[in-house]
Amino acid sequence: MLLLGAGVTVQITVLSVGFGLLIGMFVGIARLSTLWPVKVLAAIYVDFIRGTPLLVQIFLIYFALPIIVGQRIDPFIAAITACSINSGAYVAEIFRGGIQSIDKGQIEAGRSLGMTWVQTMRYIILPQAFKRIIPPLGNEFIAMLKDSSLVSVIGFEELTRRGQLVIARTYGSFEIWITVAFIYLVMTLTISRFVDYLERRYKTDDKH
Ligand code: ARG
Repeated sequence: MLLLGAGVTVQITVLSVGFGLLIGMFVGIARLSTLWPVKVLAAIYVDFIRGTPLLVQIFLIYFALPIIVGQRIDPFIAAITACSINSGAYVAEIFRGGIQSIDKGQIEAGRSLGMTWVQTMRYIILPQAFKRIIPPLGNEFIAMLKDSSLVSVIGFEELTRRGQLVIARTYGSFEIWITVAFIYLVMTLTISRFVDYLERRYKTDDKH
């Protein structure tokens, strides 16, 4: 039962960080835009999400939003939506930092070759930035995997919620929470080893 929950935890994490990557890439680039409305909107999104607890964001989507749309939201949809929107803001900052870390001579070089701003981003800046953002993206993955335990409060049956349910039946608080913690640990350690590997693999030709 716990392992099934762990599978669900992995699912929420992969989906949320996956959507988060999509949102974050655009928002991160938007934050560097020279068009001020785009820049301001992106900044408001990032500030709001990072300045409020994920737990409250989950409540907003699961309990507050249905009052406006007049319809209950499935816990799975609510969980994925809240975690994706949340992750997007953190990923946006990772992208912004990665892009800003690339020497601005690279943009100038692309522009001098007659590339548009978008082409320069796509072919020159982003490929270099990607390498540098692998470690912080790995951290985001680990953070989301652990923080996804918050969706247990809306009754979504991921690992933590399953733990609570098993305890409700067996009263085995000690054994179950130790096991739950251990399963999270195995998952986070696996991710960090994998990130170490990716980092080593993409590092090779980055020495100037
Ligand atoms: N613990 C923080 C919060 O409650 C962050 C949650 C999500 N973390 C993340 N890296 N997406 O808001």
